[in-house]
Amino acid sequence: MDHFSYRDGILHAEDVPLPAIAEAVGTPVYIYSRATFERHARVFREGLSGIKDKRIAFAIKSNPNLAVLNVLAREGYGADVVSGGEMARALAAGVPADGIVFSGVGKTRTELAMGLDQGIGQFNIEHEPEGAALAKIAHEKGLRAPATLRVNPDVDARTHAKISTGKAENKFGVGIDIAPEIYARLAALPGLDLRGIAVHIGSQLFDLEPMEAAFERVGSLVRDLRASGLSVTHVDLGGGLGIPYKAGEALPPSPADYGAMVARVTKDWDVHLTFEPGRVIAGNAGVLLTEVLWVKPGAAAPFVVVDAAMNDLARPAMYDAWHDFQPVRETAERMTASIVGPVCESGDTFALSRDIGVVGEGDLAVFRTAGAYGATMASTYNSRSLVPEVLVDGDKFAVVADRIAAGTIMAAERVPDWLD
Ligand code: LLP
Repeated sequence: MDHFSYRDGILHAEDVPLPAIAEAVGTPVYIYSRATFERHARVFREGLSGIKDKRIAFAIKSNPNLAVLNVLAREGYGADVVSGGEMARALAAGVPADGIVFSGVGKTRTELAMGLDQGIGQFNIEHEPEGAALAKIAHEKGLRAPATLRVNPDVDARTHAKISTGKAENKFGVGIDIAPEIYARLAALPGLDLRGIAVHIGSQLFDLEPMEAAFERVGSLVRDLRASGLSVTHVDLGGGLGIPYKAGEALPPSPADYGAMVARVTKDWDVHLTFEPGRVIAGNAGVLLTEVLWVKPGAAAPFVVVDAAMNDLARPAMYDAWHDFQPVRETAERMTASIVGPVCESGDTFALSRDIGVVGEGDLAVFRTAGAYGATMASTYNSRSLVPEVLVDGDKFAVVADRIAAGTIMAAERVPDWLD
């Protein structure tokens, strides 16, 4: 459930009519609902109520805005980070260092040292040399790095290939078959406090079965490691739960379904569990507000040219993702149109020959479910401005990320003397 709905025929975010934001901030603009973030955070936590010993670390790659992280930190969420930049954001937003989990296949030595200096809660090691490097840096600092070893369970997550991470051919983790020997070697290093295993098989998962299969494999690995005398006290089960993008589409498993599956599979594990949800918390807590610039005739259907583009919301171009399109002024009239942005390539298409509520030049509309992997993946391609973000709370709203004008970006560039 979210807090974007029509009142008196006008789409609102909580109590704020979207035209008021367009007027104050301009378009395109991302709009987040605080109440929706909080609701999702609580529903996810309640779904895991059967699991006592746990930490929930919001995957901040899905939405790293400081105000958003602040809202979630107040809900007791930690942060799953994948770079020094994300770590700095989590800390700046008030996430306690021990609630931070550092994932990612390409951590640098500088970033590992930063995590140690900050005292973060957990490093998810992706392969043996990274573990050895972390152990060495920690040892030199007189520390022991709390860590898990990420395994690749070789299961097909049944999601888009670009966001699948748990198949043998993907770059993530160590093969689960060779994990025991690597675990044993890393566990012996004095600079590491190797506590367990991490796994994450992909994103936008609509099916609990592959996750369950992966978790079962992790369960038998935990038993094997213990049988050979190694200690396992922590398991990180990653994120990945899917969300509905399309009104009327079959629903993904709920957080309660997911939590029940996890509780069943892990009941004998006797470990502390970490969860790294991103999309399920952020996705439906945001929309991208845009204005229709033109309606242009097209061969198959008219083109609705909006002022948002693939640089603002990359998901349709990158993953053929669907985002519902809704006029801000409620209408019963329908039209079939292709929705495109101003960027000069045909990939800048949000929808092809789609049945939508009628819009015309100057009308406002939103792309729904844009709170996760939206603003954070924006660029300035075609020398467009970097899209701003607004947070709504009841009848208040605030700009929580400025629009960065193309001119500001240009001001950071220079022509070297020797070209003159
Ligand atoms: N943990 C790890 C280690 C991850 O790699 C990810 C996502 C998550 C947690 C959070 O997954 P979620 O709960 O959000 O599914 N840009 C793509 C999604 C990339 C996901 C990358 N990893 C998209 O727009 O669909």
